Amino acid sequence: MRILILGSGGREHTFAWKIAQSPLCEALFVAPGNSGTAEIAKNIDLKVTDFNAIKTCVLEYDVDMVVVGPEDPLVQGIHDFFLKDSQLQNVVVIGPQKAAAQLEGSKEFAKEFLIRHQIPTAAYQSFNAESVADGYKFLETLKPPYVLKADGLAAGKGVLILNDLEEAKAELKRMLVDAKFGEASSKVVIEEFLDGIELSCFVLTDGKHYKILPTAKDYKRIGEGDTGLNTGGMGAISPVPFATKEFLDKIESRIVRPTIEGLAKDNLPYKGFVFIGLIKVGEDPKVIEYNVRMGDPETEVVLPRLKTDLVELFKAISEERLNEIAIEIDDRAATTVMLVSGGYPEAYEKGKEITGIDKINGSIPFHAGAVLKGGKIVTSGGRVMAITSYGSTYKEAIKKSYQNIEELHFDKMNYRKDIGFDL
Ligand code: AMP
Ligand code: GLY
Repeated sequence: MRILILGSGGREHTFAWKIAQSPLCEALFVAPGNSGTAEIAKNIDLKVTDFNAIKTCVLEYDVDMVVVGPEDPLVQGIHDFFLKDSQLQNVVVIGPQKAAAQLEGSKEFAKEFLIRHQIPTAAYQSFNAESVADGYKFLETLKPPYVLKADGLAAGKGVLILNDLEEAKAELKRMLVDAKFGEASSKVVIEEFLDGIELSCFVLTDGKHYKILPTAKDYKRIGEGDTGLNTGGMGAISPVPFATKEFLDKIESRIVRPTIEGLAKDNLPYKGFVFIGLIKVGEDPKVIEYNVRMGDPETEVVLPRLKTDLVELFKAISEERLNEIAIEIDDRAATTVMLVSGGYPEAYEKGKEITGIDKINGSIPFHAGAVLKGGKIVTSGGRVMAITSYGSTYKEAIKKSYQNIEELHFDKMNYRKDIGFDL
């Protein structure tokens, strides 16, 4: 197959790394890609939400499968765009259609779906600018901390967790009335705070059948000990040590199965990944969010543990026969540590040369915000590179990642030195 991956992060480099190993892959393209994907695929410079440019690329390179990395093109309906176009309708798209992508595109839609299918989640109510006074009243009935979520996509910044009631009211007003997150916060979901430890579950589905991939835990805050600002993710570990067989069985029976059955009942076609963000409250899993794609940096630990041919899985998804494939998982743990630009997640500089990649031994460097420029690899984003390692335990794996990071350098390089500290 001739395969195009959309996106440019560590997630997409990992997809490219995995797909390039498949005997079913004849040609591989990544748009726009990065310096890592350039080594194993042809990069194509386009914007992932420019559907016409994607069409031109698919026709020019005779692409027959498109794997969508980030959420934006899915929420904007890239899969529907392909289905409606006579020249594209036979191209396989991995990623749900627009209707189901609302599971990530609208928090309110996701909450309604969860409640309708009796899937465990935090109690909630949603509000708009007209009902802001009702929002204040609802906040008064809750105990702190208060969880406020912008309904729409807000680049990972749309969730506020506040300890003070007056501050929560003020933020609610800022979101609804003053458009703090633009159109994304024209509606706000206010949710019961769930106290527990987080983990993520990844599911592949063809809409009828599903396969559960390894669990992972990511580290979202910039600072050690989970402090400071939220980031896209500073590191990840798979499997999650506290996810016992018994707990995983609960996730499957109470959450994964009702989710896949719920999609079918609601007539929401879905061919792709479902990323379920969970909190373990006591001994029970509850859903905090759905994403309609893989996580980043979770992909950098989940795919390295998948032994099964990913292209074979994607083909089976397109033919709705995922049930016929057995998936095989590597018993080893995998960890990744994200190297970031100094200043990230706030302002940072780009264009810093990255050296030492050739000295890495026993880890896999997945490039993220890194590009080729004048024969050099230079930084181009906040999250620059994810260093993934295997180990018989996550501690052994993480040690290897940290050893290899010693070899790497770019000006103002930063990373968390405590990935896995809480396990
Ligand atoms: P989300 O974008 O929905 O994943 O929310 C971002 C982060 O906010 C999550 O990863 C959690 O750490 C936290 N969070 C979201 N919802 C809740 C909740 N109901 N209770 C506690 N923490 C939450
Ligand atoms: N690492 C979290 C995400 O990809 O949304």
